[in-house]
Amino acid sequence: MTPEQIRSYLEFYKDLGFDSIYKREPKIKAVAAPAPAPAETLFPLPALQPVDETLEQIRLDIGDCKRCRLCEARNSIVFGVGNEKSPLVFVGEGPGADEDAQGIPFVGRAGQLLTQMIEGTAAKEGMAIKRADIYICNVVKCRPPENRTPQPDEMQICGQFLYRQLLTIKPKAICALGGTAMKALLNTKDGITKLRGQWQKWHDIPVMVTYHPSYLLRQYNQQAKREAWEDLKALLHFVYD
Ligand code: URA
Repeated sequence: MTPEQIRSYLEFYKDLGFDSIYKREPKIKAVAAPAPAPAETLFPLPALQPVDETLEQIRLDIGDCKRCRLCEARNSIVFGVGNEKSPLVFVGEGPGADEDAQGIPFVGRAGQLLTQMIEGTAAKEGMAIKRADIYICNVVKCRPPENRTPQPDEMQICGQFLYRQLLTIKPKAICALGGTAMKALLNTKDGITKLRGQWQKWHDIPVMVTYHPSYLLRQYNQQAKREAWEDLKALLHFVYD
């Protein structure tokens, strides 16, 4: 492997949240003989950064996933839906009850609002864009119990598949819906209210952060809705003009 390949390999795993590829062996209690010095051993990493994968291969790799606790209560693995060659990918947090039942992201109330936002904004701006033209997926592919926020280890484990989906589709832009998608894609401590509406980057791909449609459904705050529509307008013009 060339130094450039090693650097890119390590950067890929750093992005996935692996801070270190080494772990210490647990200390062995000295009994009669002196204990051996703690050794550094190589942490078992997932496969090398894949090149030229298809979404189908990634889905096959997920298989009947048991890599984290979210497998315990799920009915379906909700991989993603839409145009696999889309110049735009929306990333949500994780499936809810409707998505878990149907195996398709964003089909419940929040999903209906998202569809309305995409198609309504596009129509108003004179663009013939439908939801099916776009690719939609989530950070975690299995429903967190009671729709709780995914935990960091769940995001780290499942995030590798999101990253591979994005590297395969190579969209012109990504829309991060809500704080979980924002944290999964951007190395930031800022909150969503600070970052929404501004262009960020993930692996050189522009990322627009905006409010999650579930948040907009809960909000009587018209301001948040107006802002989300403004974000979407900027995003659609950037991608399709
Ligand atoms: N909320 C999400 O974040 N994703 C879905 O698929 C549905 C609701």
